[in-house]
Amino acid sequence: MRLGKFIIEESGPLQGRVRISGSKNSVLPIIAATLLTDKTCIISDVPRLTDVLVMQNLIEDFGGSTAWDQKNERLTIRNTNINKTEASYELCAKMRASFLVAGPILARMGEVRVSLPGGCAIGTRPVDLHLKGLAALGAEISTEHGFICARAKKLRGTNIYLDFPSVGATENIMMAAVLAQGQTIIQNSAVEPEIVDLANFLSACGAKIRGSGTDTIRINGVDELHGAEHTIIPDRIEAGTFMLAAAATGGDIRITNTVPDHLRPAIAKLREANVQIEEFGDEIAIAGGGQRRPIDIKTMPYPGFPTDMQAQFVAMLATTRGTNIITETIFENRFMHIPEFKRMGAEIKIDSRSAIIEGVEKLTGTQVKATDLRAGAALILAALRAEGQTEIHDIYHIDRGYCAFDEKLRNLGAKIIRIDE
Ligand code: UD1
Repeated sequence: MRLGKFIIEESGPLQGRVRISGSKNSVLPIIAATLLTDKTCIISDVPRLTDVLVMQNLIEDFGGSTAWDQKNERLTIRNTNINKTEASYELCAKMRASFLVAGPILARMGEVRVSLPGGCAIGTRPVDLHLKGLAALGAEISTEHGFICARAKKLRGTNIYLDFPSVGATENIMMAAVLAQGQTIIQNSAVEPEIVDLANFLSACGAKIRGSGTDTIRINGVDELHGAEHTIIPDRIEAGTFMLAAAATGGDIRITNTVPDHLRPAIAKLREANVQIEEFGDEIAIAGGGQRRPIDIKTMPYPGFPTDMQAQFVAMLATTRGTNIITETIFENRFMHIPEFKRMGAEIKIDSRSAIIEGVEKLTGTQVKATDLRAGAALILAALRAEGQTEIHDIYHIDRGYCAFDEKLRNLGAKIIRIDE
């Protein structure tokens, strides 16, 4: 883990163009899905993030081989010699998404052992729905010394109803079901764009999947998958974060390589707050000048407002005159950034699952810490227009999910420097 901090000075309105990288939440399940085939997979627009490197290390630990073409952001993976079924404890402890290897390894090897996951501490984040799905496909599940074990000689297709449209559970079940015997129907499945991207990759490998992007996914199992080439969709949360960077600093930013349709809730809420937004194909122009209006937000599964954008909106609303209310319905402990904002002078009260934000005139720089990935990004946005200097610690969280974030911000005029420790 790379420690270190960012030092940020109050910067003027950010200006310029920024290209959005490939989606972290797409590439992680897609790298895991390559474990389903012994043939070569070539994945393009792969963001070089620490979470992606952890997933790459996991694949190699299972016996797979990977090669980076860094210039072209391309990752070539060949999992010919998968020779173990236990996921490394050390790697799993680093990242919750490690649990996504469970479905593919179980389907390919007939058994898997994965330790209970780590990652951002934004709630209890159980994996019961993943296990419910794998059990319904015929796997015998047990817990042994902190590891979850799943075994099944051959998985069998079935109907699975998810009590909640969990993104990770939908992905794990989809990956296991593509090699199961017969048809699997996942009801109340997640509908996030990353689910569609995973389904497109699996289909390119020969899987038979219909209905991804709707709440009912139908999968007809096949005997084997072949390799494929695939380009990762742009990261909608990174795009949203740069939109907020324009809105929070009163800047003008043009975002390239993005899919505006994936950003509907963020665009709608920014317009409600009086931010000017224009769309041009795969580009979005954001003009953040003018007075912000107070808004209310409630996080929901897609296509509702994403929980992963909640903290960045706090950065803008902290100085939006009037009362703003953010209600978090996805994770029960996702307000850990609020005390950090308060240290910068924000007036925010937490009442159960809502944060009530009374906008102040100005925030002031101080020492704060990134409590999780999106919270870290949000503190940077707040620091850019806070009076004086802000030091943000524990920035390894930010490197997990933002590709060259400080460099991209500097190109837009931000006064931010990284100090490695
Ligand atoms: C994914 C995203 C994460 C995002 C989240 C919600 C990745 C790698 N991460 O996480 O950035 O914040 O979706 O959009 O794609 N739950 C259960 N039981 C389960 C699984 C989930 O109760 O078996 C609960 C969780 O505790 C949480 C809610 O369901 O309260 C949503 O979790 P889920 O959709 O699974 O999120 P992740 O896949 O972990």
